[in-house]
Amino acid sequence: MQKKTPSEISAEHHNMKAGDFKKNYENYENNKFFNAFTLGRAKIDIEINNLTKMLNIGSKILDVGCGTGDQLKIFEKIGFDAYGLDPAPDMVTIAKKKVIDPSKISLGSCEHLPFDNNTFDCVVMVEVLRYFDSKSIGKALEEARRVLKPGGIMFCTFVNRWCLDFFYIFQKFRQITKKNDFDIKNPHCEFFTPSEVEKLLHKFNFKEIKTIGNMFSPIRIIYKLNRNLGEMLAKKIENFDNYISKKKFFKPLSGHLISICKK
Ligand SMILES: C[S@@+](CC[C@H](N)C(=O)[O-])C[C@H]1O[C@@H](n2cnc3c(N)ncnc32)[C@H](O)[C@@H]1O
Repeated sequence: MQKKTPSEISAEHHNMKAGDFKKNYENYENNKFFNAFTLGRAKIDIEINNLTKMLNIGSKILDVGCGTGDQLKIFEKIGFDAYGLDPAPDMVTIAKKKVIDPSKISLGSCEHLPFDNNTFDCVVMVEVLRYFDSKSIGKALEEARRVLKPGGIMFCTFVNRWCLDFFYIFQKFRQITKKNDFDIKNPHCEFFTPSEVEKLLHKFNFKEIKTIGNMFSPIRIIYKLNRNLGEMLAKKIENFDNYISKKKFFKPLSGHLISICKK
């Protein structure tokens, strides 16, 4: 039997985790400091919020790997013409219940987007590419660029290789001790430095590439040790973390790498 690709494993993993994602987003609505997921999401949302200001009302947006559809719901509320796609059936079922127009959410993969060339003003891929190998990342970027209109914006996130919570080292250790690269419980993670991200996006002919680092402090480790302690500390250091994350010098160490570029 042919070995599954990291992208296929990611779809299965997230299908299994659809209920957890739904709960995490419910918690996020009440308290962004609730856990490492909600805090990480809040940090990404600072940049998504900036992105939405770059787009006109009525813009056509595609959320690739839309998961439970929480981002789509926000895009619709703002007045964008929002479409979503995800290969995990349970994610799609949840997403369809959250949005105004469920017919705009389809089951599918970013490696073969079911849309014509030059369709969208913006393509968003939040926490999607990180689970793929370089071949699938390349295919996803090619497809994202194909469906974007000339001058259209792509927004995507990557995992920073040298972020201070040492996830890279933890992941490598797990691979060595378990003697396998990934499985459905612990899917593959592809790591990048900021300059590798920029090189990659150049390679796929994106322009005006801007890579932002955020979530500098390794607060995710504290949440893992004790959720209450994580919440308390995250609240205390929020302003400091947002301030320091903006400093160019600290970008290679930040938890999230977020790229915004144009076709
Ligand atoms: C970490 S979740 C992020 C979901 C959503 N973007 C968010 O920020 O809440 C990753 C999503 O990517 C989806 N995914 C996995 N493989 C994919 C593929 N080949 N094409 C598109 N999405 C994929 C998963 O099913 C999952 O919903």
